[in-house]
Amino acid sequence: MLLKDKVAIVTGGARGIGRETALVFARAGAKVVVADFDKEAGEKTAGDINTSGGQAIFRQVDVTDRDNVQAMVDETKERFGQIDILVNNAGITADAMLLKMTEAQWDRVIGVNLKGVFNCTQLVVPAMVEQGGGVILNASSVVGLYGNIGQTNYAATKSGVIGMTKSWAKELGRKGIRVNAVAPGFIISDMTAKVPEKLLGVMKEKTALNRLGEVQDIAHTYLFLASDYASYITGQVLGVDGGLVV
Ligand code: NAI
Repeated sequence: MLLKDKVAIVTGGARGIGRETALVFARAGAKVVVADFDKEAGEKTAGDINTSGGQAIFRQVDVTDRDNVQAMVDETKERFGQIDILVNNAGITADAMLLKMTEAQWDRVIGVNLKGVFNCTQLVVPAMVEQGGGVILNASSVVGLYGNIGQTNYAATKSGVIGMTKSWAKELGRKGIRVNAVAPGFIISDMTAKVPEKLLGVMKEKTALNRLGEVQDIAHTYLFLASDYASYITGQVLGVDGGLVV
C-alpha cells in the first residue's frame, strides 16, 4: 500500500500506460481520478477499479482546454479533499516527415503533449502548495532524448517536457513538491499499434533486453516515483526502455 490515502490524477488514464497506472495506483491504496476525453474507455477504467475494491472516478477532460482542466481539479478537491499526485500522461502522435508535416499536425501535438502538461500542472499545483507537498510525474520519451524520423512535433514536446520537469523541480522543491519525468522506450499500446511492425522489430533488436516494453513496466516506475521510496528524487528523467540504444 505504497500510496495509501493518497489522491492521484492520471491524465490519459482511460487507455494504455495511463490505464495501467490508474489500476496500479489504486491497488497501492490511492484514490484515483481517471482524466481523459475518451468517455467510454475512461468509465471502464474507473469502473474496473471500483469493482475490484479500489476507489476511482472518471472525469471527461481535454487537457488542452483550461476550463475543462480547472473543473476537473475542482471536482477532485470536492470529492477527495486533496491532490497528492498528478501523472501528466495524456499524449498523442501525428507523424509526418518534416517537409510534409502540416501546421495542424504540429499544433495538435504541441497542444496536447506540451500545453496540456502545462495546463494540468499549473492548475493542480496550488492545491499541492496549500497542502505542503505533492508529486508531479511527466511522460517524456526516448524520442525526446534522441529524436526520431517523422516525429518533429512529438520530439519537440517530449524534449519540452524534460525542460518543464527540470524547471518545476527547481521552482517547487521548496514547497515540498517533487517533479520527475519518465522516458519510456517502445511500449506496446494503441499508440505503438500505429508504428509499422518492421520498425518495432528493429527497435526490439536495438533493445538490450530484446523485448518491447509492457504498460506495467511504466506504471510500476510511476508507482516508485510517486511513493516515499523516491522522496529524495526530483528533476530527473528516468529512462525505462529496456536498454534501448538508438
Ligand atoms: P495511448 O494512445 O494508448 O493512450 C493515450 C491516452 O491519452 C488515451 O486514453 C487518450 O484518450 C488520452 N488522451 C489523448 N489526448 C487527450 C486529451 N487532449 N485530453 C485528455 N486525454 C487525452 O498512449 P500510450 O502509449 O499509453 O502513451 C501514454 C503516454 O506515454 C503518452 O504521453 C506517450 O507520448 C508516452 N509514451 C508512450 C510510449 C509508447 O511506446 N507507447 C513511448 C514513450 C512515451
